[in-house]
Amino acid sequence: MTKLWGGRFTGELDAELRRFSSSLPFDRRLAAFDVQGGRAHAAALRDAGVLDEDEMRALATAFDRIEEEIAAGTFPPQAEGDELPEDVHSAVEARLVELCGETGRRIHAGRSRNDQVVTDLLLWLREKSERVESEIRELQFALVDAAEAHESVVIFAYTHLQRAQPVLLAHHLLAHFEALDRDVDRLRDARSRADRCPLGAGACAGSSLPLDRGRTAERLGFARVAENSLDAVSDRDWALEFVSACAIALDHMSRLAEEIVLWSSGEFGIVTLDDAWCTGSSMLPQKRNPDVAELVRGKAARVHGHLMALHSLIKGMPLAYNRDLQEGQEPLFDAADATEGCARMLAGAIASAVFHEPAADAADMSAATDLAEELVRRRVPFREAHERVGRLVAACEAGGRGLADATDEELAAIGLADLDRELLTARGSIAAKKTFGSTAPAEVARALATARERAES
Ligand code: ARG
Repeated sequence: MTKLWGGRFTGELDAELRRFSSSLPFDRRLAAFDVQGGRAHAAALRDAGVLDEDEMRALATAFDRIEEEIAAGTFPPQAEGDELPEDVHSAVEARLVELCGETGRRIHAGRSRNDQVVTDLLLWLREKSERVESEIRELQFALVDAAEAHESVVIFAYTHLQRAQPVLLAHHLLAHFEALDRDVDRLRDARSRADRCPLGAGACAGSSLPLDRGRTAERLGFARVAENSLDAVSDRDWALEFVSACAIALDHMSRLAEEIVLWSSGEFGIVTLDDAWCTGSSMLPQKRNPDVAELVRGKAARVHGHLMALHSLIKGMPLAYNRDLQEGQEPLFDAADATEGCARMLAGAIASAVFHEPAADAADMSAATDLAEELVRRRVPFREAHERVGRLVAACEAGGRGLADATDEELAAIGLADLDRELLTARGSIAAKKTFGSTAPAEVARALATARERAES
């Protein structure tokens, strides 16, 4: 393989170091973006008078061919030993030289792999971040579908994993929808800040060739040009922002996954995953395990590690480009793949899951707060109301009863004579809610009515 930097060297690169340092095993996924950037740079060289029209056409034809080879899966080729390119950029350039000889050797003027790699990565990021976003959107749609399909199912909300108040299942599922909506926002926000073209920054100081960087940015569909050549090649804050957005989205997905694990247990019995979305045990014949959800939790942990790796990589690096930066690619790619995959898997599991209302519990006390608020409506200070309902709860608990079994006398004794007994039940508690964003059926219906439209925007 022709080296990109042979002139001042007499010896060959150590074979082991070649293997150790090559990024081709992971940056091969940038090949199509390297071609895209290469085309824009060739056009800039033509505009600058460095390439003539014929040379430009020859390069364009060679780029077409390389694109076909990428699509066919034959480029970059699997190479080893002396043939192993240092990275995808070297591989593309070497192929250009193979395809159009001397003209191929003209493309790398006014360009360095330092501005080239960031350009490729930012082009990759734009596409990948949109794909991650659309998988998160699909997950949101799956949640909305499940919420709509189970609109009247009542479950319990927990605090401290202790039963707290009854809520509609739809309300609970829409809580996850909201969190994911902010994740989409974060991805978009990160994408807009990353929308700047580094090409033309060269190795670090720019180029003495009259390259029109604005025109190159336009050709590649970037909103603007990276302002400072040193910053353009050396910063990776866009990767930190994207991986942070992925890590936060995965925190949210992991919480949802944790609930699927809990809910699919015999103890909760709220969700049954479809056979296609759970796994069995090699030893325990009765098992149906929610591995899909556990893997989402596991992948979230792994992406936290990637975020930390990127922070550590960047924090002490002097300007401008340093080869350490190459080590940021795998965490970046893996974070993106994991986030996309988790959203997709959770959407599939939820779309085919069946949700159930938990069996009625004779000792249920979850309407206690509504009773206290009823006392507040009857002019009892809340602290006093809390006390009185607490006493009623204790009395019911001692008798192995739930609040619904409280006698009229017990209710009258705490100031709740003539209580509409519906308020003692989970459904009554839900129906009594009045505030915006609450689990009141009308509020949940309002949220459901707008959710789909919001996720389509
Ligand atoms: N594979 C390298 C990377 O990912 C490309 C840039 C190499 N630049 C250099 N001056 N060695 O960072």
